[in-house]
Amino acid sequence: MITMNELYRKTLLTIAGNRRVERLTIKYGQSLARRFIASEHLNGALAEVQKLNEIGIMATLDHLGEGIKELDQATVYRDEYLRLIEGISKAKVKSNVSLKPTQMGLALDPEACYQNIRAVAREAKYHRNFVRIDMEDSPYTEATLRMVKRLHQAGLTNVGTVVQAYLFRTEQDVLDCIQNHISLRLVKGAYKEDASIAYQNAKDVRHQFERIIQLHLDQDVYTAIASHDDRIIQFTKRYAEEHGISKEKFEFQMLYGLRMQEQERLAAEGYRVRCYVPYGTMWYPYYTRRLAEKPGNLMLVLKNMVR
Ligand code: FDA
Repeated sequence: MITMNELYRKTLLTIAGNRRVERLTIKYGQSLARRFIASEHLNGALAEVQKLNEIGIMATLDHLGEGIKELDQATVYRDEYLRLIEGISKAKVKSNVSLKPTQMGLALDPEACYQNIRAVAREAKYHRNFVRIDMEDSPYTEATLRMVKRLHQAGLTNVGTVVQAYLFRTEQDVLDCIQNHISLRLVKGAYKEDASIAYQNAKDVRHQFERIIQLHLDQDVYTAIASHDDRIIQFTKRYAEEHGISKEKFEFQMLYGLRMQEQERLAAEGYRVRCYVPYGTMWYPYYTRRLAEKPGNLMLVLKNMVR
């Protein structure tokens, strides 16, 4: 049985794909999207990260962009990431970077995408930094995992990726990545996926999420758990305590603009916390996924609109 929340999520992700809705949202929704976006510019984003670091929260900076239509755009994004990595180094802030494969050209030319990400990873390695390759929808899962392995084989072990609990395949991917020493961020999954490949029910997804958290922690490898869900956070804390896993062995990750007090509280309790900080102007797809995740986020926007 599909719940109201699941129906809401599917409907919003479908509506968001409509070109007219996109045009209207871009026209009227920009100021509201700011809640989730640190800045339009690199310097503004670095300043936000500085503030987070001061309260004990690390960051991962994401220059917004995905699903590019021309390969030339990918080189623009690649160059922005090269500047970003240098900027992090110069500003001496505690932040790594997150990027999306389709932003670097995966849907257009996988080899060009690999070369673009390789350039970013090499720059990051030079600055002793780390690149997280976000996981997008399922047509790109296999190619993303293959690309990360190839980067590792080329000596770029400062690259990691993400696995999504809602996909049936994920448990096997976790084991495979651990065996290949690939660092993972564990998430529920943010896209609309078919019932033939992914759990649809929120309870099943949470259950699978707990399974992969446990699996990952049991292997004694550093674990990044990205979630705003209290049940997941409590599960992780409890499991770590019961199994003598130190707070240094895992981190909680949350998105900029969401549960900021909770992020601060966890950091004050001595947990490692990393905030995902997006910046730039291509905010629409990122923003609509956030609205789809929680009816409360949409209510916040609607309240602002009638004010
Ligand atoms: P979810 O939104 O399912 O909420 C569950 C419960 O948590 C709620 O019912 C409520 O109790 C509590 N809660 C949630 N938000 C709250 C709030 N604002 N205030 C109070 N309570 C709240 N996805 C992907 O496919 N690929 C990726 O690469 C990434 N990367 C990524 C990085 C980071 C740092 C994060 C945090 C998330 C991602 N995601 C992602 C998104 C992820 O897959 C997922 O869609 C969202 O995190 C939403 O799931 P949650 O587990 O956060 O809780």
